[in-house]
Amino acid sequence: MTSPSDTASLGSRAAVLPTYARADLTVVRGEGCRVWDDEGRAYLDFGAGIAVVGLGHRHPGVTEATHAQLDRLWHASNLYWTEPMLRLAGLLSDRVGGARAFFCNSGAEANEAALKVSRKVTGRSRIVALEGGFHGRTYGALSATGQPGKWEGFGPLVPGFSFARPNEVESLEAAVAPGGELAAILLEPVLGEGGVLPLEEGFVRAAAEIAREVGALLCVDEVQAGLGRTGTFFAYEQLGIEPDLVTLAKGLGNGLPIGALLVREGVADAIGPGDHGSTFGGNPVASAAACAVVEAIDDALLENVAARGAQLSSGLQKLSGVREVRGRGLLLAGLLDRDASPVVDECRARGLLVLTAGPDVLRLLPPLVVTEAEVDEALGVLQEVLA
Ligand SMILES: Cc1ncc(COP(=O)(O)O)c(C=O)c1O
Repeated sequence: MTSPSDTASLGSRAAVLPTYARADLTVVRGEGCRVWDDEGRAYLDFGAGIAVVGLGHRHPGVTEATHAQLDRLWHASNLYWTEPMLRLAGLLSDRVGGARAFFCNSGAEANEAALKVSRKVTGRSRIVALEGGFHGRTYGALSATGQPGKWEGFGPLVPGFSFARPNEVESLEAAVAPGGELAAILLEPVLGEGGVLPLEEGFVRAAAEIAREVGALLCVDEVQAGLGRTGTFFAYEQLGIEPDLVTLAKGLGNGLPIGALLVREGVADAIGPGDHGSTFGGNPVASAAACAVVEAIDDALLENVAARGAQLSSGLQKLSGVREVRGRGLLLAGLLDRDASPVVDECRARGLLVLTAGPDVLRLLPPLVVTEAEVDEALGVLQEVLA
């Protein structure tokens, strides 16, 4: 017999617009690298809420900072200043050499802001992004997303976008060429949703050079790859470039919704009051959490990302059914000799949460605080499932 609460939860599932293919799993609690379902079953979370809980679920420092802010001020509007937002802007500005921040609530919004700033600052409209890239689901971000399947049924998109093949400089030159008028080149240092494909340093340097030559801005989407996930605070630090615009979200609030656009010093001069906005952007509670996150990304954490990334990558390489391992730090994927979705389902049945990034791509994004023993545990489950 179903209890009243079962009936309520089954009934309310039908009340949710089915934009996600959700697993039959209701998550009720999280701590560190684990979550628990409504029947008390534990899962090792190697998806980290899709690269969000970088510091692990309910990280003590972030939780404390958030509680303290909840007891002081929840919202003031962007007509005034708040202390957490100012502190966060300062912390992020220090990381990008004097950049100025615009705060919003998600990755798509951060990229929308980047697209608008690029057009306003340059007075031009064309944007070149990458085939297979992913920048979000709102109209500008979707128009910049190089995955035509995601456009179907939603046209017309925003005009002015064209696409180059990742890691192919000639393709980039060809996409930039027609008629100048380029506002920005937008790229992810590691294409996350597009299969966990790392961009090569030569390609990214060429993109920076081309942008400089034609007077366009270089915009790096660090929504998935940033905030320590690849072993440096920003993934672009490993690629020998200094972008004009950087977008962040996902891991910034460790689970609270916050996004940011960082605009390099000198680039933001054409932006003034009324050009852009967001009611909740820079919300004090989310900003307080984000300050604690940014402060927690220190050398010890980044060393853990490198060590655990190397451990996970070499363990994956040894598993039967894994054709290739790619990615950086703890943004990793195994290319399988079979469909990845059944593997994800079987892992979940055995208490391990993992993700896909394409039909045969198994994506692993554990919290950055993952331990050696937890990586071994995950590899053990994967070995059983892939055997
Ligand atoms: C690189 C990248 N940019 C942007 C987004 C969109 O972020 P959000 O879902 O917070 O809008 C994502 C989400 O997966 C992403 O991976």
